Order: sequence, then C-alpha cells, then structure tokens
Amino acid sequence: MRRVPDVTAAPIRVAVLGCGTVGAAVVGALCDPAASAALAGAIGAPIELVGIAVAHADRPRPGIPSSLLVADARALIDSGPDVIVELIGPIPETLELLHAAIDQGASVVTANKALLATHLAALTSRAASRGVDLYYEAAVAGAIPIVRVLRTSLAGQHLTRVLGIVNGTTNFILTTMERERRDYEDVLAEAIARGFAEADPSADVDGHDAAQKAALLASIAFDRVVLDSDVAREGIAKVTAADLDAAGRMGFVVRLLAVAERLGPEAISVRVHPAMVPKDHPLAAVDGAANAVFVEAASGPVMLQGAGAGGSPTASAVLGDLVAAGRNRVARTCEHAPSLDGACRLVELGETTSAFYLALEVLDQPGVLAAVATVFGSNGVSIESMEQIGRAADARLVFLTHPATEAQMAATALQLDKLEAVTALGALLRVVDGPSR
Ligand SMILES: NC(=O)c1ccc[n+]([C@@H]2O[C@H](COP(=O)([O-])OP(=O)(O)OC[C@H]3O[C@@H](n4cnc5c(N)ncnc54)[C@H](OP(=O)(O)O)[C@@H]3O)[C@@H](O)[C@H]2O)c1
Repeated sequence: MRRVPDVTAAPIRVAVLGCGTVGAAVVGALCDPAASAALAGAIGAPIELVGIAVAHADRPRPGIPSSLLVADARALIDSGPDVIVELIGPIPETLELLHAAIDQGASVVTANKALLATHLAALTSRAASRGVDLYYEAAVAGAIPIVRVLRTSLAGQHLTRVLGIVNGTTNFILTTMERERRDYEDVLAEAIARGFAEADPSADVDGHDAAQKAALLASIAFDRVVLDSDVAREGIAKVTAADLDAAGRMGFVVRLLAVAERLGPEAISVRVHPAMVPKDHPLAAVDGAANAVFVEAASGPVMLQGAGAGGSPTASAVLGDLVAAGRNRVARTCEHAPSLDGACRLVELGETTSAFYLALEVLDQPGVLAAVATVFGSNGVSIESMEQIGRAADARLVFLTHPATEAQMAATALQLDKLEAVTALGALLRVVDGPSR
C-alpha cells in the first residue's frame, strides 16, 4: 500500500557503502527526485542520503554527488545513520563494518552473498539482539524477491524442495550451447567477451557462486544454518554439446541447479550441479542469463523468474529491502528474525538418490557394452536406456539409469574409469524428476 509521506516525519538517514555496479544504481535512484519520492511514499517518510563510502573517494563519478563521497566507511557508520546499505563485497573488513553498523543500532541491507553464506547466523542473531533489521534480498537471485517469499509469503507452508537457476553466467553458457550446438570453451569465450562472465570465470562455472546462494536458500527455506562449505558442488565444465544433444533426445535440457531438498522429516540435502530437467518443467524454459527459483510447497509449486544480476536489477532488490527497513524505522519496530536453529540433519551427497545420465568415451570393439553393463549391474545400478553415438575413435555411450544412490553411482564411475575399453568418463548428470521418479 502506498503511504502518503509524512513531510513532518523525521527522514530515514541512509548511508551507502560501495558505489560500484550495484551501489551506483542504488545511489542513482536515491538521488533521482521521482524515484526518491516513490520510495518516500512507500516508506511513509523521506530518505536522506547521508554519505557514500568508496575505496577511491577522489575518482570522478558522473551523476554521483561528490560532496557525499567519503573514504572512511567506519566513520560514516559511526555518524549514526538509520540504515546502512552495504554494497562493497567480500573484502575482509566488510564483516567488521556490518557488526559495527548493527552495534550502532543501524539496520543493515546487504547484497553480500559471499559474506552471508558463512556469517548469516552470527549477523542474524546480532541484529535480533540489537533490535534492528538485517535484509539481504539482493544476495540470492538479483531482482527476484525470493527471500521475502520464503520468509513471509510461504512461511505457513511445509516446503519440500527449492530448485534454483541462480547463476546467469552458467545458464547463458548452457542455453547457448544447447541452442547453437556449440562447445563449452567456445561459448565461455563469448560470455567473457560480452561481459556475461568474468575473465576468471571459476566462481560461476565451478558453481561457487551458486553454492553460496544455495546455502542461503536452504538456510531460509529450512530455518537451519547451511554454510556454502556444506554444499556439495559440481560445475559445468564437463558438459559437452553432445551431452546436450543426447539429453534433448531423451526429453531433457541441462541446467546448473541449486537444490535444497527435504529428504524426510529431519533431513535435508543441499547441492549444486548440472542437472537434467524435463523439457516440460517450468525451469527448462529459463533461457540466457535469466534466473528462476522453483519452490515446491504443500500448497503446490511456485516459480519466480527474473534478472539475476546487473546494477539495476540488483538495486531493485536492495531498494525493496530499504523500503522494508525504512517502514520498520517509522513504526519503531523490526522484522522478526528467522531462528536458524532447525535441527534437521544435512545429508551427505553419497546418501542422496536420483536417476543419472553418464557419458563414456569407449573403444569401438566387441564386448565393450557387456563389460560396461557388468559394472553397472555389480553396483546395483539398473540402466533405463543406452545410446551409442559415433563409431571408431569417436564412439560414445550415453546411459540413463533408474534411481540409484550417489554412492552407488560414484562407485560405478570409478570402476568404469578403470576399464580398458573406457577411454574417458564424460559428464555425470543428475536427473530432476526423471521418468522413473
Ligand atoms: N554486480 C552484480 O550484478 C551483483 C548481483 C548481486 C549481488 N551483488 C553483490 O553486491 C555487492 C557489490 O557488488 P558490485 O558488483 O557492485 O561490486 P563493485 O562494482 O566491485 O563495487 C564495489 C564498491 O565497493 C567500494 N569499496 C571497495 N573497498 C571499499 C572499502 N574498503 N570501503 C568503502 N568502499 C569500498 C568500491 O570503491 P571504488 O568504486 O572506489 O573502487 C566500489 O565502489 C557484492 O557483495 C556482490 O556480490 C552484485
């Protein structure tokens, strides 16, 4: 509901730490009269931007009031703003700055997934004990308001699984490979050239970024501390255009998924890996650098989709959090913090079950198939379908299995790798909602 801003209400004093890709978009909105009036209307009080801390305060920044730029973030915090918006990123001092802000009685809005994926519990309890807000919508999926949906809108629901396409770079790479039948290295080079991937793309393609977001999604969905180091993680580098073709013929697309799943009343699994998603699943239609989160609840599935990164989309989530924190200041309250004290066990990857896709490069000679099938059988993994692609030096076998545990499949892959007839192990993909599930 839009409130009529009370012009006599004390302004909400806001300090922004960091004025890079996201910070500049946030400051731009706060300095724009129409956007700032809309925010004041949503909060019920005007916003006063009291300072912007940056590393290089003397650097010219078009559109940013130079009088507000300061080099000392700590001094800005100590000046006593109502809300600190932290958009610096994971430098070692950031945690200390957020502790200082909370201790000063400021509410905190941050987009810092790397920090939260390790320190969410400590920051949450510190904020709760000081009676201030800690909001971090922008840390999970850019413009998509999934944190608020999980924390508030679906709070009365028994959540069973959250599946997220939470890394735009890998989704761009996989969907471009699939559509244009191009190889991983080729599309990765294009992604770097077009600015969709960093020059060092490992945080994205190896799944680290998605693992931080998976940890946050799981912590919020299951009210239990999950650290990024708890998340089983595999990247997309082994996926080939041939795998995407074979997956397509089997009725699937391949996406890097963050999976947070309840495996029983007291157990959850949290993992990131490339997965086979049925073509008729809503996540299969998420193309390019878009993000999406698919939540399975007792009430049925809910999916949110949108831009997962970039200055303006990420600023949208930051500003939403700023409105929430501002409203609470006006009402002299703060949001009830999640307890994060859930006792459910975090299941090891080896205990989880799914159907699998496995690609093998093999010698094109008699007896290979029998030897390979024996390895599957001796590990209790039953084969749903098999396809041979190519001949001679290019011969590849691709298998789709019935559900098996990760431990069974890992043992199978290990033994297959030792067979003389197997020249290379290709991609091992988990099947989401496969034909036999
Ligand atoms: N970019 C995205 O699309 C995106 C999406 C979701 C979440 N996030 C998160 O948002 C945060 C900011 O990301 P970004 O891409 O905007 O980063 P960025 O472009 O690298 O900007 C970082 C800003 O922090 C400032 N800074 C660095 N050290 C500082 C210090 N000690 N004191 C004060 N300021 C300092 C820098 O100052 P100078 O300008 O002077 O160098 C710069 O303005 C990160 O936590 C990131 O994970 C980003």
